[in-house]
Amino acid sequence: QKHLLGLADYSKEDIEYVLEQAKTFREVLDRPVPKVPTLRDKTIVNLFYENSTRTRLSFELAQKRMGADVVNFSTSSSSTKKGESLKDTIRNISSMKIDMVVVRHESPGVPHFLTRCVDAAILNAGDGAHEHPTQALLDMFTIQQELGAVEGKKIAIIGDITHSRVVRSNIIGMKKLGAEVTICGPKSLMPNHVNALGANVSYNLEETLQWCDVAMALRIQLERIEGSTDLFPSLREYHQLFGIRMDHLEKYPQFTVMHPGPINRGVEMESEVADSDRAVILDQVTNGLAVRMAILYLLSGGVRI
Ligand code: CP
Repeated sequence: QKHLLGLADYSKEDIEYVLEQAKTFREVLDRPVPKVPTLRDKTIVNLFYENSTRTRLSFELAQKRMGADVVNFSTSSSSTKKGESLKDTIRNISSMKIDMVVVRHESPGVPHFLTRCVDAAILNAGDGAHEHPTQALLDMFTIQQELGAVEGKKIAIIGDITHSRVVRSNIIGMKKLGAEVTICGPKSLMPNHVNALGANVSYNLEETLQWCDVAMALRIQLERIEGSTDLFPSLREYHQLFGIRMDHLEKYPQFTVMHPGPINRGVEMESEVADSDRAVILDQVTNGLAVRMAILYLLSGGVRI
């Protein structure tokens, strides 16, 4: 593969190969000097048109740990503010001899568009509600680390399904690896044609938590919901109906809690749940660094470390 646009383009074997490489990089992170010079002749631009903490910082840290030259672009301080188009922006950046572009954008399909504008390898760091492939890779890697395998696991993804790129990439990837996925949430946060996503659909949190090995909660993306002041259910009602609580952890002792972040504490889950020993949310973040090192290494040509 030259690019990482979405997991729809990656086979089961491709995904397994990335996760296998990520294991090596996870070990590198535990070394006293967690650096490998595998990208020392590469120049990478991180092109973020939307806010990010985990994805942007872990890509940048991964690139620096691997010795790449890194430049960061953010809309607020760029000539985008003067009206420069996306195509002109990327062609100008590419003229500075860039090897790889990591892009996040609010519009689905922007990473695909960039592949037609420049020769560099394009890595999708989240495009609208379409895909967030590195998040799904780090989620699957975390499940492998915590539960031994993704194959055969029952995975519940709970929350704002309509606006989530994380759920789309995870359903694609997890099904390729042989998991059973159930999406759960209020009808108002389920997309039209929900069955086309290829997962089981549940509107009942208790049944879903009783069933699953992993409960992954998703943030309610208020910034993408029109008329969010009249939201039904309201955030308080949502928490009552679909929030994971400490009493759920006691009642259903078998499931592991995940969340891609950022968390709305007290909405998707009680704060104590996020901080409990059943949650692997910060492990997901550490694993994100290893997974991003692996994908950068593979897309740059994959010399041995
Ligand atoms: N999970 C995730 O994509 O987080 P950020 O938006 O902070 O990158």
